[in-house]
Amino acid sequence: MEFMLDTANLDEIRKYRTIIPLAGVTSNPSILKREGAVDFYAHMRAIRAIIGSEASLHVQVVAADFEGIVADARAILANIGEDVYVKVPVSEQGLKAMKVLKADGVNLTATAIYTKFQAYLAIAAGADYIAPYFNRMENQNIDPRAAITEMAREIARVGSGTKILAASFKNVGQVNAALECGAQAATMGVDILDAALSMSVIGAAVADFTADWEAVHGAGVTVSDL
Ligand code: G3P
Repeated sequence: MEFMLDTANLDEIRKYRTIIPLAGVTSNPSILKREGAVDFYAHMRAIRAIIGSEASLHVQVVAADFEGIVADARAILANIGEDVYVKVPVSEQGLKAMKVLKADGVNLTATAIYTKFQAYLAIAAGADYIAPYFNRMENQNIDPRAAITEMAREIARVGSGTKILAASFKNVGQVNAALECGAQAATMGVDILDAALSMSVIGAAVADFTADWEAVHGAGVTVSDL
């Protein structure tokens, strides 16, 4: 199971790389917009410096036409690193670009996936990751659970090495569902992690344990003080 952060905020990445087993960082132009008019390549290199070479970095193209997507992908690789996973939307032009890029051995994350058919095409195109948009699918009255289940079945059927990197989450239940339906990876905003880990019952349990320990050993004494 790979947990990734869907953010381009350096502080959020710095914080959560020390907390979760961070497998990678993803972003798109809308996520980047939140950071303001940053120097794109310098910012992406800064993310790479924070997460190290073991975690995967997924960077999205901006152009929507075949030539532009291929040019964007080559620029991303040249300016950020050859090991970047280039995010390409599964559109007609995006699929056309994926064929060329995959033939050159580029790491590909097929994104903007709302349907099983898009996923099947991206799997056949040799995408390393496919990113179904969980919450956005629900908004379109498309069942993401059923779709991700079938994507996982297709990967198993054809013996593909493609991994499902589920994305677009609004709550932790959606993340759980995506993983339970067969997604090998999930990328999420820190709001999901904050909500999941700040449940009052977790804090209350820890406070109770501390109080019970201190009732015996004294206030402020912990195991390491013995
Ligand atoms: O990684 C794709 C994701 O960022 C889309 O999420 O929240 O815009 O639906 P959202």
